[in-house]
Amino acid sequence: MIKKGIILAGGMGTRMSPLTKAVNKQLLPIYDKPLIFYPLSILMLSKIKDVLIIVNKGQLDQYKKIIPNGNNLGMKISYIEQDSPRGLPDAFILGENFIKKDNVALILGDNFFYGQNLTKMLLNCSKLDDGAKVILHKVSKPELYGVAKIDKFKKIVSIKEKPKKFISDLAVTGLYFFDNDVIKYAKKLKPSKRGELEITDLLNKYRLKNKLKADLIGRGGAWLDTGSIEDFYKTTMFVSAIENRQGFKISCIEEIAFNNSWIGKKEILSSIKFYGKCNYSEYLKKLII
Ligand code: G1P
Repeated sequence: MIKKGIILAGGMGTRMSPLTKAVNKQLLPIYDKPLIFYPLSILMLSKIKDVLIIVNKGQLDQYKKIIPNGNNLGMKISYIEQDSPRGLPDAFILGENFIKKDNVALILGDNFFYGQNLTKMLLNCSKLDDGAKVILHKVSKPELYGVAKIDKFKKIVSIKEKPKKFISDLAVTGLYFFDNDVIKYAKKLKPSKRGELEITDLLNKYRLKNKLKADLIGRGGAWLDTGSIEDFYKTTMFVSAIENRQGFKISCIEEIAFNNSWIGKKEILSSIKFYGKCNYSEYLKKLII
């Protein structure tokens, strides 16, 4: 079982400057809520209650204003500040004291997932006891991502970071599930040519031991990563189209906590007070009448 999750919410967001000069990227809006709500929701839908958010040094206060400690969600949310980004696997080295002897999920702070079968898949992933699991999704530009080649049994035969030569169109999304060996393996990694610890090198350690599994998000699901201003705009349009058509909100963290029975009416009322008079609060009100 996976009971702990890490959100990697550091990064300078250089591609989105000047928007990211004063505010961290993960706190910028995707339609009606900060980006960080979306990856946090994914961990919550995986029934992970204990979450560590890794943020840039000096930006902790920004985060604590919007997500103080998880009490209002029936969760435990803690933070670590990172001096400088050293690559995704650094999350397991920085987070060693948080992970302790448990298994752990990692999600990148700028990843957006949506789809009907998603919750079912997440619940299945969080059952992981041994090895590691990645989530794959077909994309038209695989050269921008970590890419996995699978055989007909969905077994990963190779995995490469941003391959220049085509090997497969299945991108490795920024959501990973690991057993506790991940701390040990992360510590053994050496920085790549771009000077960072690479997640694909970490995944390859599991693959070589025949312990790397994959799940696929099919064509009915969406995976969007929000690295550029254009991505923010497109993801915002996606969320706005669905929310306005259905009247449901995507990644309303209080709604997910309420549906998970982690909180009740009292916490929803205190969130309404916290957010003040706004459309988001109006939505929360409807959950408890
Ligand atoms: C990172 C990973 C890559 C993965 C991607 C998902 O890329 O290195 O394997 O496919 O996240 O968003 P980066 O954002 O560092 O370019």
